[in-house]
Amino acid sequence: MKVLVPSSEEDFQRYYELRWKILRKPWNQPLGSELNDLDCTSYHVMICEKDRIPIGIGRLHFNDTHEAQIRYMAVDDEYQGKGVGTLIMDALEKRAKEKGAYNIILNAREIAVSFYTKNGYKIEKKSYLLFNDIQHYKMRKLLKNLSEM
Ligand SMILES: CC(C)(COP(=O)(O)OP(=O)(O)OC[C@H]1O[C@@H](n2cnc3c(N)ncnc32)[C@H](O)[C@@H]1OP(=O)(O)O)[C@@H](O)C(=O)NCCC(=O)NCCS
Repeated sequence: MKVLVPSSEEDFQRYYELRWKILRKPWNQPLGSELNDLDCTSYHVMICEKDRIPIGIGRLHFNDTHEAQIRYMAVDDEYQGKGVGTLIMDALEKRAKEKGAYNIILNAREIAVSFYTKNGYKIEKKSYLLFNDIQHYKMRKLLKNLSEM
């Protein structure tokens, strides 16, 4: 499996298609609902098995100088539970560290909380309810100890 950064128009088309398929379509959300204002300034990664067809994707942006945030993690149905999500997290965290993050936050869907716990994130609080259905939890991982900041 390869960890790639989408670059061409075709890459991004496939990238957003997967985001929509996994995170929006099951809740009958229209095409386009997967897009977000910060996409153009965020860092994106896609995991590909062959060619540049993504089987897993994720995004990182910065909220301020030292706080990064991961969003839109999605692994294609048939590839879930095979380590793809962990590969995405590793690539996004590496980037966050390189760019000076002290910590990373995310809003986890209830079903994915234990995945993020395995990756070192801790629940801070219950956050929002998406589509009147999916409870989210705000989670955080410290990348540096207080003494290193
Ligand atoms: C959540 C998701 C990104 C995880 O990616 P993945 O490739 O399936 O996860 P991995 O195979 O790297 O799993 C790593 C570990 O987390 C565990 N885990 C806990 N909850 C999990 C979940 N909901 N899905 C998959 N793995 C989960 C696995 O058992 C595995 O543990 P192990 O290494 O001890 O076997 C992926 O399953 C997904 O896209 N789910 C649907 C969309 C979604 O919920 N996205 C998150 C939005 S916040």
